[in-house]
Amino acid sequence: MPLSCSQLSVFYGRRKALDGFRLSMKTGEIRALIGPNGSGKSTALQALAGLIVPSEGQVAIEEVLIASMSRRAIAKKLAFLPQQPSAPDEMTIAQLVRQGRFAHVGLFSRYDRRDEEAIDWALESTGLSSLADRILRELSGGERQRAWISAALAQEAGILLLDEPTSFLDIGYQVEVLDLVHSLSRERGVTIIMAIHDINQAIAVSDRISLLEKGELRFDGEPRALAESGLIERTFRVKGRFVQVSPDAPPHFDVELTRLSQPEA
Ligand SMILES: Nc1ncnc2c1ncn2[C@@H]1O[C@H](COP(=O)(O)OP(=O)(O)OP(=O)(O)O)[C@@H](O)[C@H]1O
Ligand SMILES: [Mg+2]
Repeated sequence: MPLSCSQLSVFYGRRKALDGFRLSMKTGEIRALIGPNGSGKSTALQALAGLIVPSEGQVAIEEVLIASMSRRAIAKKLAFLPQQPSAPDEMTIAQLVRQGRFAHVGLFSRYDRRDEEAIDWALESTGLSSLADRILRELSGGERQRAWISAALAQEAGILLLDEPTSFLDIGYQVEVLDLVHSLSRERGVTIIMAIHDINQAIAVSDRISLLEKGELRFDGEPRALAESGLIERTFRVKGRFVQVSPDAPPHFDVELTRLSQPEA
């Protein structure tokens, strides 16, 4: 499902957190949204999800402006995993994931077989089938993160917005989530944009990368072009270099663990 936006700007009070953000995604594309802390990644995702009304610009799903769509109509097409989602502590994983499916079920109607299958698939894909009856309060950070990913999957939306889906996860589950992202895109044609801090994971998994700095889009293109641009070192103020491990492997950023200078306030 195509997702696009033009000239999106968002203010918090008088401060501009996003300045003229542009995006054009094709069906099944995976895009990583990278940038320093506070550069506007979450703001951009929330605006794309229709949760923040931009002061300028429009978001379109399949070329229909989301400003003209109901929340429920948006939820059928787009699932959003926030950076810090919240739910009642006493809720179980199964309840959270069922709630994720809500957009498909009428207010007074029952979950049908399709819904149950989607819920089971979402739990299984995140390795949570055997934990389904555990309550959220008693989960580890990583288990809770996977529960939220599962709830987003149960929506079976054509567009998935993920805000740091691998935070809190151990390296094994990080790779599993990235594999899942890859297969959702390639096998189901899901369009996926995710904020992510690991540059190498971003480069390995995505078709295109958007780089934000102080609310401005600094780069929009293929991972290899980003590696060649020198923008990673400049934007994050680190020393490092891209190495080519093997001819077909994606370029790998090798960071030197010394700070060049402190970022400006
Ligand atoms: N609700 C809010 N009210 C006021 N300012 C906000 C709000 N949310 C974010 N900001 C500010 O807007 C800027 C962009 O924040 P945003 O959360 O989009 O950054 P980010 O790139 O997602 O950062 P991180 O990597 O830390 O998650 C920051 O300066 C932040 O302090
Ligand atoms: Mg964020």
